[in-house]
Amino acid sequence: MTFTLDELSIPILGAPMAGGPSTVELVAAVSGVGGLGMLPTAYASPEETARRIGAVRELGCVRFGVNIFVVGEHAVGREALERYRDTLVSAAPDDVTIPPVPDFGSDDERQDHYAAKVRVAADAQVPLVTFTFGLPSESDVAVLHDRDVAIGVTVTTADDARRAVDRGADLLVVQGPDAGGHRSTFRPDEQPPTQPLPELLAEITGSLSTPAVAAGGVAGGTDVARLLDAGARAVSVGTLLLRTPEAGTKALHRTAMMDPAFTTTAVTWAYSGRPARGIANRFMTDFADVTPAAYPEVNTLTGPIRAAAERAEDPQSLNMWAGTGFRAATDRPAGEVVTELWSRAEPLLTRSRS
Ligand SMILES: Cc1cc2nc3c(=O)[nH]c(=O)nc-3n(C[C@H](O)[C@H](O)[C@H](O)COP(=O)(O)O)c2cc1C
Repeated sequence: MTFTLDELSIPILGAPMAGGPSTVELVAAVSGVGGLGMLPTAYASPEETARRIGAVRELGCVRFGVNIFVVGEHAVGREALERYRDTLVSAAPDDVTIPPVPDFGSDDERQDHYAAKVRVAADAQVPLVTFTFGLPSESDVAVLHDRDVAIGVTVTTADDARRAVDRGADLLVVQGPDAGGHRSTFRPDEQPPTQPLPELLAEITGSLSTPAVAAGGVAGGTDVARLLDAGARAVSVGTLLLRTPEAGTKALHRTAMMDPAFTTTAVTWAYSGRPARGIANRFMTDFADVTPAAYPEVNTLTGPIRAAAERAEDPQSLNMWAGTGFRAATDRPAGEVVTELWSRAEPLLTRSRS
């Protein structure tokens, strides 16, 4: 039986959060209370991805999803990247070495091993695979559907939602402007849309019957109820789980989320070359106007700066992805966060979920 959102006893997904936060324990904790844990694959090798899928299952978790990046082309030339690298070199601390502009050995490497990860997910017959930054190919859709794997696509516009449905998506993750982390725009140089999530959701669910999951800025039960009432079948939360003990979030990032010195989030290309929302800090301001929209090259170039910031415990140069609701995150166990969120939301619903 192919997975559907109706199977969930709690219509809440633990959003995929690559780069550390979404551990296998976090995935299992969210699924364990009746929600759906999502395992990210970005920055992990296909072998590591297969190992993590096995580890989630070893924790007794049957129902969960896997998220894969679809890294496309960009229009930034080598010269612009070299100029940007020079700027980084002159700004970096003396003990930090910025690598050469990456010359990815193969498309596979540049594309974060997309094809191999699709094969891993199909072979493992995971219940759901969601794609971010673009559409899966037609043949990948066929391969996954053959193995009874449901397919989701993260979209930020009604047009992209239609394209995803035409490609064969079984569900849509509709990501709004308040979301933490990367926006799933299909081109890295696109300004991410600012249409409020309830409006975008109503537009999409008004014209398409494909079930939608709403993501972005959820800070409490009222938000969950509002999004379900606006047409979502489920809601996805990321930032709200970042401080839970199961999450692999860096200590510096956790601390900044509570630090009164950090008051706001902003969307930036500065760390990765793609628009992403994070806690506003100095690196974002300094590099706001000079960073080319070139993912993943920029991400590779800034890697040593981010690693050095973590070593030096300097929150001003670390990418601390978070949505606008970051102040609502607590350090309670993830299962409790999800069950409490739902217990607060359910009585507020005005629209029947059946
Ligand atoms: C630290 C962090 C890492 C993220 N990594 C991914 C990822 O690997 N894949 C993805 O599709 N979305 C990623 N996102 C976006 C989330 O899946 C989701 O859209 C977002 O967290 C929802 O907004 P919220 O953080 O306000 O709840 C990430 C978000 C955060 C905060």
